[in-house]
Amino acid sequence: MNELDHIFQNNLDWVDSIRANDGDFFKKLAEQQTPDYLWIGCSDSRVPANQLMGLLPGDVFVHRNIANMVVHADFNALAVIQFAVEYLKVKHIIVCGHYLCGGVKCALSQDRFGVIDSWLRHIKDVAYLHRDELDQLEGREKENRLCELNAIQQAQHVCESPPVRDAWERGQEISVHAWIYGIADGKINKLQPPIMSADQVRK
Ligand code: CO
Repeated sequence: MNELDHIFQNNLDWVDSIRANDGDFFKKLAEQQTPDYLWIGCSDSRVPANQLMGLLPGDVFVHRNIANMVVHADFNALAVIQFAVEYLKVKHIIVCGHYLCGGVKCALSQDRFGVIDSWLRHIKDVAYLHRDELDQLEGREKENRLCELNAIQQAQHVCESPPVRDAWERGQEISVHAWIYGIADGKINKLQPPIMSADQVRK
């Protein structure tokens, strides 16, 4: 018995449960994907995009990294955004941060974590940008607020990215959302109204 055998069994059970509702589900998915949503979230194992939105395979295009970052020169994230916008024609791009984010917590500390430091540096920049507000807070409250501010900032970066700017210029309808997910209660909350045009974005 292989220690991963239970995963293969889970997989077969899952296939059966999906087919019980829709016998052609996988056959249809094999033909094309037409997701309406691009999800940019944290790699944290407690924040599974499809499950927490109650969506099925085929419903959401997903990009995850430590602390749901959209770094301007990250060609991985930019390629995902371009593919989602230009080829999949998603209608919504969701940047979802989450409370208790280890990446955000590390960014608030002075400890060294190796190569991760270079990635977290970008969150430290967000913290610096909002230092006046964050300096008024401490501990968990400060971490939580930075989780929120970071999601808002990364959504801003999505709006500033060439694929989204080009899409808006073409008249393609895309809404960019900043959300926060509570690991402790499983709930998603909106952090700001959706951004739907270049006029709403800092030049
Ligand atoms: Co996280």
